[in-house]
Amino acid sequence: MKFFKKGDKNTEETKPTAKPHPELQVISGSEISGKRPQQQAPQQQAPQQNITLPNIKYKIAVASGKGGVGKSTVATNLAISLAKDGAAVGLMDADAYGPSIPTMMGIQEKPETSPERKLIPLVRHDIKLMSIGFMVPEQQAMIWRGPMLHSAIRQFLTDVAWGDLDYLIIDLPPGTGDVALTLTQAIPLTGAVIVTTPQDVALADVRRGVAMFERLGVPILGIIENMSYFLCPHCNEKTEIFRADGGKNTSERFGVAFLGEIPLDAEVCTAGDLGVPIVAGNPDSPQSAAFGAVATELEKVVLEAGEEDELTIL
Ligand SMILES: Nc1ncnc2c1ncn2[C@@H]1O[C@H](COP(=O)(O)OP(=O)(O)O)[C@@H](O)[C@H]1O
Ligand SMILES: [Mg+2]
Repeated sequence: MKFFKKGDKNTEETKPTAKPHPELQVISGSEISGKRPQQQAPQQQAPQQNITLPNIKYKIAVASGKGGVGKSTVATNLAISLAKDGAAVGLMDADAYGPSIPTMMGIQEKPETSPERKLIPLVRHDIKLMSIGFMVPEQQAMIWRGPMLHSAIRQFLTDVAWGDLDYLIIDLPPGTGDVALTLTQAIPLTGAVIVTTPQDVALADVRRGVAMFERLGVPILGIIENMSYFLCPHCNEKTEIFRADGGKNTSERFGVAFLGEIPLDAEVCTAGDLGVPIVAGNPDSPQSAAFGAVATELEKVVLEAGEEDELTIL
């Protein structure tokens, strides 16, 4: 796979002239539609207009049918694994209702703005990171209304100086709500990856997620099963806590790729809480190997999808 060279990356994040981004204060709930009249008008006329993000090769949404299945954990570790493989990677936390990636990546500060008035992503573990959580006070996050969320997401997509990226991994909120809809309508996604746990109820939610993306014409790149088994740290024995192979069976049923399994593991959890994801903090662990294997599978699927596209064009 041909990646952008590291040196090609946008270097705006290091510019000493950066100032706090004015939008960080502007977007506070009901204010959002009033402050930028020049930009609001065209959006209202053409709400479906695509934002192309041409400098980003692959834009991949990470979705789940319900919350708490480890979507953000998977998105974060997957992004770092891709970067370890040599890719230039951005991670966008679009979970407006529960942005958690800054905590998982150990970020306390807020992004600054470039002289061109673009938000400069923060960089951790070789990943460029932006979170919608930077744009709203925490107590605001739960009371988003549809149109407000729609314009915040669009602004979020256009106002970030990502530079050249191979992958932009986008952590969506759980379910099939407004953010997923706005995002899929706003940018041409390469595809979506669905994270699930092996239990039946989570898998029923997966079916709904698959149906939504299919309806929106977004390819499903594959399913990742999280918390698949418990790996005993003492004897390395694998224990299937939930029903085995649920994610795999669902993948087969829908004819989409199965990207792999991630074990249920205390270190995966504490690493996230401490702000150093396991793939960065303990790269030689079997848990990190599991994330690495999923990243490799994803790279394969994305490459194959790209080749199919080229064949179609010919
Ligand atoms: N494989 C795993 N093993 C152990 N804990 C996990 C694993 N994946 C996620 N967790 C923990 O489960 C909780 C929910 O994960 P999170 O990634 O925030 O889920 P979501 O984004 O789907 O809501 C977090 O405390 C996280 O650390
Ligand atoms: Mg999350």
